[in-house]
Parts: sequence; structure tokens; C-alpha cells
Amino acid sequence: MDRLRFYLNDRLVEESGLSPTTTVLRYLRDRAHLTGTKEGCAEGDCGACTVAVLEEDGKGAPVLRAINSCLLLLPMVQGKRVYTVEALKEGGRYHLVQEALARELGSQCGYCTPGVTMALLEACHREDFNEPWKLDAQMCGNLCRCTGYRPIRDAAARVAGLRPADRFARALAETKPEPMELAYTAGPQRFFTPATLEALWDVLDAHPEARFVVGGTDLSLEVTKRFAEPPLLVSLEALRVLRTLEPRAGGHRVGATVTLTELEDYSRATCPPLERMARYFGARQIKNRATVGGNLCTASPIGDLAPVLISLGAEAVVLSRAGERRMALEDFFVDYRRTALRRGELLAFVDVPAQPAGARAIAYKVSKRRELDISSVSAGFRVVVDEQGRVREARLAYGGMSARPARASRAEAALVGQPWTEASVEAVLPLLDEDFTPRTDHRGSDWYRAQVAKNLLRGFFLETLSEPAPRLQERHAATVQVR
Ligand SMILES: Cc1cc2nc3c(=O)[nH]c(=O)nc-3n(C[C@H](O)[C@H](O)[C@H](O)COP(=O)(O)OP(=O)(O)OC[C@H]3O[C@@H](n4cnc5c(N)ncnc54)[C@H](O)[C@@H]3O)c2cc1C
Ligand code: FES
Ligand code: FES
Repeated sequence: MDRLRFYLNDRLVEESGLSPTTTVLRYLRDRAHLTGTKEGCAEGDCGACTVAVLEEDGKGAPVLRAINSCLLLLPMVQGKRVYTVEALKEGGRYHLVQEALARELGSQCGYCTPGVTMALLEACHREDFNEPWKLDAQMCGNLCRCTGYRPIRDAAARVAGLRPADRFARALAETKPEPMELAYTAGPQRFFTPATLEALWDVLDAHPEARFVVGGTDLSLEVTKRFAEPPLLVSLEALRVLRTLEPRAGGHRVGATVTLTELEDYSRATCPPLERMARYFGARQIKNRATVGGNLCTASPIGDLAPVLISLGAEAVVLSRAGERRMALEDFFVDYRRTALRRGELLAFVDVPAQPAGARAIAYKVSKRRELDISSVSAGFRVVVDEQGRVREARLAYGGMSARPARASRAEAALVGQPWTEASVEAVLPLLDEDFTPRTDHRGSDWYRAQVAKNLLRGFFLETLSEPAPRLQERHAATVQVR
């Protein structure tokens, strides 16, 4: 397909000539004149631009996802169904999410309200609303300056999981998946979405300078904040093989285009340290788009997945036309925002091995705000303790402590062979100052980061005294307690 083709509030739209880096938000407001959807921050932080997108989940089943339209480029909705707040009222009647918000007095100036409503719509159609913490996680991507969050949360509690027989339920039941495949040119810009690896290699052979994109939650900021016009983007979103998420040899294979929402769901039962990190990652709208590969390939020193995956002994699996390359994930990061990927290569999978007997593992994220914030320091720790209570292996990985996610090799070496006791932990803490020279920036001073790094290790010891990988408390981040 060489045209943009998607459905907007159930109406087929076909476009050509528009820049492929036009955001869905800009399209809605400037071209479709659907101005209910608002722009607040244009960087994924406020939720005012939230729309609902009907697409396939990792297993190919249709799902309705709340997504920030300010970070969504038009080719990313190729073949999908986009719904805006204008689609809610049917047959002259308000949708029950609108009624709930009004009844709970969840809107004052109304600027955030369309976005809040669309986040409620996703909540309304979720099949997995079985735990109270999911309410906070659902709504933490929507800021409101006037109302106060309790009425909004009450509205969410009222509608979550109801799954009414509305137009969205009908669309979920009846929609047949349409291909995302695209080879689109507009002026000097091109956008490819190949559907097979073979087609991808052909694109890369013809355009070695191409940049990959998947969720766009990192790359789109270049467009919305720096007004960049990338000449050639290649989306990996239509390559089903990269969406693999399954047990493998006692461990897990995580495809590069698996979203954080999918990772969080999957790891809940299978890998508690990963679930902990996924829970505090971004907000629902971000997690619905952000991918594992995108997170690792930005090679950000404060990317949240790297420390936990490194601590679990994960390997990066890299693909190119020439075949497969594997490396320990810590070796994937070679410098500040630089990976070991060569031209023509992409990150395809992350293989997380089976955890050895006696392993204790947890991940931590320290940020100024508990939800939807960037880490000041993050960490993933795993120690393997033998039957005599001695540390047989230690993997202490940190983010925010150096130019790239890295292991504390001196502290690790000093722990091995020692009894897993408070005294041993205290003894290795000074070595963290030799392992890292953290920087001072607006998220924390070097002194603060060094202290946090030590305290996290202390906390890890205390938390793993009785359980090898303790679960989060159910009400992990209650901003409001409703009794
Ligand atoms: C509001 C907001 C909140 C956020 N919160 C967090 C957070 O809590 N923690 C955190 O760590 N990050 C956070 N992020 C950053 C971002 O969401 C994540 O890094 C996300 O995982 C990126 O995935 P993506 O698919 O959207 O990447 P994209 O933007 O699509 O791509 C990012 C980069 O990776 C490259 N790339 C992507 N996939 C591959 C691949 N398979 N192989 C090779 N290169 C590839 C692209 O070329 C691009 O350079 C946040 C971002 C926003 C806007
Ligand atoms: S405009 Fe703020 S999240 Fe999109
Ligand atoms: S009602 Fe004014 S910002 Fe939410």
C-alpha cells in the first residue's frame, strides 16, 4: 500500500501527500477538524490528546488501547481504527464513561476531559480489571489541573471492566485485521512498514541510512519538540516474529516489539522483578505503545528495562540479512546512547534465561514522582545464594549512575563467596563509589545518586531475607484511598 489508510470513528480515511511524520493529533485537529482531542504537552505527559485505537494485541486478538495521539505518527495507525471523543455519543445518548465522569463531578474547565474520557473508555473495555491497583495505573497518564483526582478515579471505578454492548464492543467483535504494510512517500520523506523480514532486508539494502521506529514514544519527540523531519523511517511494527513473548528453555523470549503493557501482563505471573519495573514505567498510554526494543535501543543511561534485564542475565539477539548475533545485554550498551548494533542490524529479541536455584532478584526505580516519571537511579539486582548461605553469584546493575546502564563489577566481585548478611552488604557498599562516578543534574546530585545506589542495595538485602523475589503490595501506589 502506498497510501495512508485507516478508519477514523468508523469512517474509512485514505490520504496521500501528507508528511509521514504528521502526528495523529495534528491530523485530527487541523485536517479532520475533530477538535475534541486536545494538545497539552505534545510529549506524552498529560494525556489530553488520548484517543482509543482498535488494533491487534501480541497474540493477534483485537483490543482497544488508550494512546497519546501527540506521539502517534499517521503511518502507525495504518489499517487500524482510531476513535476520538466525538465517537462516544451514540443515538443522542452519552456514553456511560461520559455519564460516570459527569455524575462524579470529574470535570471543571474540561480541558483534560476528552483525554480522561478516552482513558476511561479503555478501562471500560478491559477484560482484566480484577485488581484495584489497576485503576491508578490506568489513569496516571492523565493530568487534571482543576478537578482533583478522586472524582476522576471514582468515575474510573464505576466503569472499569463493564464492557457494555456499544459501538466499540461491536467493532471489537466484528473487525477483521487489516495489513499495516506500507511504502509511503510524501515530498522528501519516506516511511516503510515491511510485513516480512525479507522485505525489511530489501528496504535496508536499498536505504542503509534508514532509521527504525516502533512505538515512537522516544523518536516522535524529535518531531514534536525539535521539529525534525526524518527523511526515512522504517517501522518494525508489522513483523509478527518480533512480537514473540513466550517461555523458552525455562526462561523467556521477549520480542523487540513487545509493548510494555504486554510485558507487564506477561511478567506478572512469570518474572516478578520485570513486572515491578514495568509497573512503574511511564503511564498506560505510553506503555500501550512503548516497546522493549525501543527502550533498549535508545541506550539511555536512565532507560528502565536495561538494569533489570542485565541483572537477570539477559542476552540481546540481533538480526540482519547475514544472520543472528548474540551478546550479553550489558555488552549491547557501548557508550552514552550508543549500542553495539551495526548498520543493517536490528534488535530482534531479548532472551531472559531460567533463574538458577537460590536466586534472589528485585528491580528498583527511584524518581521524583512515583508514576509517569523518569528515573534518577534505577537498579536490578540478583544474587544466587548457595545452601550454606554464601553468595555464589552477584549481578548488580544500575541505571543513572554512569553514561550507560552498567554492572557494579567491584562490588559484585567482593560479594561473591561472602555470607548473604547485612555485614557483607555493608562491607561492599564503599566499592560502589569506585564502580561509579555519577553526575549531577536536575534529577539529583552526584552525592544523592551515590547514596541512593547504596540504599537500594541495603533495601534489596532486607527485602530478600524472607522471599527470593517479593511481589509488590497490591495497593502499591494509591494516590487516593476510597473507603
Ligand atoms: C511520557 C513518557 C514517559 C516515559 N516513561 C519512561 C519510563 O518510565 N521509563 C523508560 O525507560 N522510558 C520511558 N519513556 C521513554 C520511551 O517510552 C521508552 O524508551 C520506550 O520503550 C521506547 O520504545 P518505542 O517503541 O516507543 O521506541 P521508538 O521511539 O519507536 O524508538 C526509539 C529508538 O530505538 C530505535 N529502535 C526501536 N526499536 C528498535 C529495534 N528493534 N532495533 C533497533 N533499533 C530500534 C529507533 O530507531 C529509535 O532510535 C517515556 C517516554 C515518554 C514520552
Ligand atoms: S498532548 Fe500531552 S500527552 Fe499528548
Ligand atoms: S477539568 Fe480542568 S484540567 Fe481537568
